[in-house]
Amino acid sequence: MKRNILFSYGWLLLAVLIFLSACQVDDSYPIDYEQLSEDERLVIRFSHVVGEDTPKGMAARKFAELVKERSDGYIEVQVFSNGTLYKDSEELEALMRGDIQMIAPATSKLTHLVPEMSVFDLPYAFRTLDEVHTYIQSNVGKELATKLETHNLYSLGIWDSGFKQLSNNVRPIHTFGDLEGLNMRIMPSDVLHKQFEIAGANSRRTDFNTVFTELKKGSIDGQENTLSNISSKNLYALQDYLTISNHGYLGYLVLFNHELWKDLSPDVQEILVSALQEVQQWEWDLVNELNMKKLEEIEQCECVHIYTLSEEEQRAWEKAFEPVYKYYRIRHPVRFIQALPKFS
Ligand code: LMR
Repeated sequence: MKRNILFSYGWLLLAVLIFLSACQVDDSYPIDYEQLSEDERLVIRFSHVVGEDTPKGMAARKFAELVKERSDGYIEVQVFSNGTLYKDSEELEALMRGDIQMIAPATSKLTHLVPEMSVFDLPYAFRTLDEVHTYIQSNVGKELATKLETHNLYSLGIWDSGFKQLSNNVRPIHTFGDLEGLNMRIMPSDVLHKQFEIAGANSRRTDFNTVFTELKKGSIDGQENTLSNISSKNLYALQDYLTISNHGYLGYLVLFNHELWKDLSPDVQEILVSALQEVQQWEWDLVNELNMKKLEEIEQCECVHIYTLSEEEQRAWEKAFEPVYKYYRIRHPVRFIQALPKFS
């Protein structure tokens, strides 16, 4: 009897050991986080206001794919494009509140928080995108990004949209003087306002998603933007004249809610940073080509007169815009301007 009991216990012990080792084998399998509910995954909501076929739209999607792949589906970046979740005037507040976790606003839209950031809006401050990247990696560039931290914003990099061009319905713009009297839409930045003011033009700060309607209503005559933005919102279809002026830079800081960022584990931070670094380089490499492609598409519609400023004309415009630099200089520490490639 005693032997029987011992024998049964032996079998029981063996069964438990087999069960435990099977559990161990299971544990070593990669976890398929996609089977988990949204509550069990880490969801990052990324809101932006442009179309999918723009540098920012494409970069946001690629970032979401990379992060999903590298975290085995544990981190899900949900991208909301075209302002479907928040308009550009709302997304920053939403990020600071923590209602969303990530945005990539134009630097111009951060100038009410960090006014020195308007250095990026100075006309002809940069001749190439590489110059912008060098500036952002310099001490003053880092200083600008760090200033955002007091507003609960953490910058993880910069994505380009490219250089801005001018479109309008009133007249072809060849010279600086041709801007006089025009009603132009701008992003919210005092430097952009000044840029048009010194040219004798009026400017209106409106959300990106209202530009098409405002042009259609005739409440503005024109606007400035990159070719991918002009094309993806069909703005050119409402405009008679387009001037390839390359007069200003448009780019984005890729921002996280800072509190949320600090709460993430080092592993998660590492996945996000490495994916962002890869996407940033990929985005930088595609921007010029994409904008050129958009120009060809616009040319093909034969619906808008296109004029390209020569190198000499651009230099004349740059000179005419000098009072904007003076405006910046008397308001902000000189080091932000001095570090621009054209002065350093
Ligand atoms: C604009 O408002 O024109 C741009 O900032 C839109 C964008 O995000 O590129």
